[in-house]
Amino acid sequence: MSTILVTGGAGYIGSHAVKALALAGYDVVAYDDLSAGHREAVQRIAKGIPGRVITLVEGKISDRARVADTIKRFDVTAVMHFAARLSVGESMRAPFDYYATNVSGTLEVLAAMAECGVKAFVFSSTAATFGEPEANPIDEGHPQRPINPYGATKLAVERALPFLDRAHGIKSVVLRYFNAAGADPDGWIGEDHSPEEHLIPRALAATIHGGERLVVFGNDYPTPDGTCLRDFIHVTDLADAHLLALKWLAQGGASDAFNLGNGRGASVKELIAAVERVTKKHVAYTMGPRRSGDPAALVASSERAKSVLGWRPKYHAIDQIVSTAWTWHQANPHGYAGAPKGQA
Ligand SMILES: NC(=O)c1ccc[n+]([C@@H]2O[C@H](COP(=O)([O-])OP(=O)(O)OC[C@H]3O[C@@H](n4cnc5c(N)ncnc54)[C@H](O)[C@@H]3O)[C@@H](O)[C@H]2O)c1
Repeated sequence: MSTILVTGGAGYIGSHAVKALALAGYDVVAYDDLSAGHREAVQRIAKGIPGRVITLVEGKISDRARVADTIKRFDVTAVMHFAARLSVGESMRAPFDYYATNVSGTLEVLAAMAECGVKAFVFSSTAATFGEPEANPIDEGHPQRPINPYGATKLAVERALPFLDRAHGIKSVVLRYFNAAGADPDGWIGEDHSPEEHLIPRALAATIHGGERLVVFGNDYPTPDGTCLRDFIHVTDLADAHLLALKWLAQGGASDAFNLGNGRGASVKELIAAVERVTKKHVAYTMGPRRSGDPAALVASSERAKSVLGWRPKYHAIDQIVSTAWTWHQANPHGYAGAPKGQA
């Protein structure tokens, strides 16, 4: 079985892809600078799946020579590219950093692939490439007009890929995730960002007495309860889509792009209610003003991923998704940092 290079493989979604790949019989090299990722995530997977070669190589995606050396050393046949900066707010304040990592860094990975003759690339893109939606659900035909540097940098890569296909034969599958959520149901790996900006982990943290209160940004949106509607898609369903994308490319499929979501929106208030049901605790929150750049509703249509790739997401109900995040949170209340000795 071949070896897959997973950039950002020590991060939240990347580590779930590493686990899914290893379970499917691939050897995996996680390539990560650990700026936001966790060595321990990769160690836990390697320990849990001893039959596979799972290696962490520390490095920056901007280091083309190191990426190329890693590709050659491990005889890599395909690349899944998760490594990125991904905070919308930070991207507004530091656009240079976002263009440097998400565009220039990604092009270095692709240049290393071209140099080494690797022709299969699965790219983590985002709903943020669509900007303010004209209508929901959002399918692949929806215009892409990002309204922040984060979305713009991801779209810049999307736009480069057809030219790299033509010039270098690099076939790509672009996967645009909506809101990644939940955790590995085995509880080995989960979400541990610092600072944490995502709604579910923040709502879980707000159940702890004395923990930070959740701020809900706006309750005057044109939605049924006035709070924003988002599409939460389970992280292991995303990992499954990556395996299918890899298979698609291995079978000679053409370069393509797919939106990945649940197809149904949950409002922030519904999400809070789900967290209260699952945890049987109160979520302490305050209502704040709208945050600029937040669309009222973002819901995906993933019909193409289902019909073309055969994607079958397993998590539909928001309570199911929250409950896997809660399992992770209970076992790892301080994320990877607080793991009991010997668990890594
Ligand atoms: N989390 C979401 O809801 C979501 C939604 C849409 C798209 N995405 C995309 O999915 C991907 C993964 O997101 P995530 O939530 O797992 O984020 P994450 O921060 O947990 O993972 C990103 C990983 O990339 C690594 N990294 C960052 N810069 C690097 C560099 N220059 N060189 C090498 N490694 C580097 C980090 O250390 C981290 O391990 C990103 O590309 C993101 O844009 C995420």
